[in-house]
Amino acid sequence: MVQKLPPGPMRDRPDLPGPAKPPRKDTLFAQYLAPLARLILDDRPVRDLAERIDWDAARRTHENPQTVYPDYYLAENFHGIEGGYLTITAAATYDAITQYALPPHEDWVRDGLLRAVGGEPRRILDLGCGTGSMALALQRRFPQAAVVGLDLSPHMLAVAADKADRAGLAIDWVHAQAEATGFPAGRFDLISVALLFHETPPAIAKAILREAFRLLVPGGQIVILDGAQLVLRQFSALQHIFEEPYMDAYARGNLDAWLGAAGFEAVHSDLHWGIHQVSRAMKPHPVAEGLGDRAEGFGFARPLATPALG
Ligand SMILES: C[S@@+](CC[C@H](N)C(=O)[O-])C[C@H]1O[C@@H](n2cnc3c(N)ncnc32)[C@H](O)[C@@H]1O
Repeated sequence: MVQKLPPGPMRDRPDLPGPAKPPRKDTLFAQYLAPLARLILDDRPVRDLAERIDWDAARRTHENPQTVYPDYYLAENFHGIEGGYLTITAAATYDAITQYALPPHEDWVRDGLLRAVGGEPRRILDLGCGTGSMALALQRRFPQAAVVGLDLSPHMLAVAADKADRAGLAIDWVHAQAEATGFPAGRFDLISVALLFHETPPAIAKAILREAFRLLVPGGQIVILDGAQLVLRQFSALQHIFEEPYMDAYARGNLDAWLGAAGFEAVHSDLHWGIHQVSRAMKPHPVAEGLGDRAEGFGFARPLATPALG
């Protein structure tokens, strides 16, 4: 028999203010999709995960008490989950739901980011790593690299660490803001960002890009996977269906322009499976070093049309 998760948020941070508003009940997701999903999905893996992890111990391991949660992050019930990402519910259900949120197939969609990586990076940082799916994939693709996953939710990091342990992968997990990581400049040669920017206000996305630029070595690269802005712009109802508070603002923006404004060069975005986009850009070498344009050879075949600057 398929067991059902108990109702309620499983929130374990009553000390944090949390969203002042309850999750919306009027979304298509709350009214139709969630009940349907509960009917047809086998939630045993979710329940197993929720029970396997010692959440108190995980919080002690992963939570950095110095880390400040930004207002935009505390104020929203992302995906209709009360308390958003700072809940066990969000962390335990994320993978089970995400596999259906990335058509046509999660692996094929994530593969777009892996394919965009040029060369053999040795020091990789995955910003907004969530439950670690992209960080694990990068570690498998580049086994010689030292991979770090960074996220604001200790619960998400707990699931990421559990997945890496079970896969026998040694990845470092860091609890911090992607816009203020605390790492020294020039620490990484690849930064990846998957499915983060549609979840942040554009001002935060731009701050994260500036931080990524600082963290990369000259000649380092950033690769980004997210919803295609040009396409999402036509479907603003999605924001309300899935309680994605910042998706509309993300869709109206222009990631290529944001990358350029942060200092990146050789900026390039491709439509990926019709509704996603993969972007890649390079941190230039200082001109004084006379190293020329290292971006050559990483060209994308079919750039997206450039929408209005965001
Ligand atoms: C939609 S999930 C994406 C997770 C993962 N990258 C993936 O590909 O599945 C967004 C993640 O970004 C994290 N996040 C949101 N804002 C953040 C910020 N400013 N700094 C670090 N992590 C952030 C959330 O906690 C959440 O785990």
